Amino acid sequence: INTIGVLTSGGDAPGMNAAIRAVVRMGLAKGKRVMGIRKGYNGLINEDIIDMNARSVSDIIQRGGTILYTARCQDFFTIEGQTKGANICRKYGIDGLVIIGGDGSFKGAAALSELGINTIGVPGTIDLDINCTDYTIGFDTAVNTAMEAIDKIRDTSTSHERCSVVEVMGRHAGYIALWCGICNGSEDVLLPEKGKISTKQIINNIIANRKKGKKHHLIIVAEGVGGTEKLAREIEEKTGIETRATILGHLQRGGSPSAVDRMHASMMGAYAVDLLCEGKSNRVVAYKDGKYVDFDIEEGRNMIKVIDDRKFQVSQILDKYTL
Ligand code: F6P
Repeated sequence: INTIGVLTSGGDAPGMNAAIRAVVRMGLAKGKRVMGIRKGYNGLINEDIIDMNARSVSDIIQRGGTILYTARCQDFFTIEGQTKGANICRKYGIDGLVIIGGDGSFKGAAALSELGINTIGVPGTIDLDINCTDYTIGFDTAVNTAMEAIDKIRDTSTSHERCSVVEVMGRHAGYIALWCGICNGSEDVLLPEKGKISTKQIINNIIANRKKGKKHHLIIVAEGVGGTEKLAREIEEKTGIETRATILGHLQRGGSPSAVDRMHASMMGAYAVDLLCEGKSNRVVAYKDGKYVDFDIEEGRNMIKVIDDRKFQVSQILDKYTL
């Protein structure tokens, strides 16, 4: 490998900058030329490519977002787009490419590898929904951001003796919701992985808790379950308890990355460069059972990850019982 390219793709996540920094500085340390591709695969197709040196990544480890910008690129799902991308890599002498992003972005990485460009995926998404890895860059910061926001909602909810229904991100996965369910001590948590809980059951739970003297009732809803506004309206109608819905939205994607995110991003970015320098391609970096490892992209994408049942059980027990 002579020249390493790096891009961020899909939804941004706190810690992506730390991963870019690690790729650039580890690449330079190994004597490689490093180029940044801006705006994900879109930027590759449109040749939005810049030279990067050690100073290009100064003062970014603490910044949210991605200095390389990001995009979701439909064209890259077509063979024409992928072939164009591979040809542009060759034109710029990029023979190794690190793709920091989610599962969809790794499909593009696998396609580029087939077309002769060495590619390595680094898992970056707040959703934690990449099957082969226990950790994805951005999750810890996003959960902490959501948790702090929900603590604030809880303050006002208690003062007004209201019920609050709060929706968190996660696309089809319930990891952020499950963590907030436990860490915010919510009364209920609705996860796509656990199927629908009936509104009647939720309402019975609210009424039972009121009888026990609880001042508020906090329900966390994963984005993949949805129906947050409707649920809040139904609760208010059927219980007479004032109820407010809050959809936390994109604030969960921003902010300075936590130490956990900076650490994983730095280690994973450096690991990706090591793999390229060993001549590897079509691999995804993962954190499994406390170690950094790598998998074939297809193998990794086909792995199955299930939400932690024990955490769900614990959340339910701690939520339902008022001592
Ligand atoms: O994948 C990260 C994520 O924030 C999901 O949680 C959410 O479903 C989606 O991206 C939102 O995407 P966009 O920023 O394109 O609206």
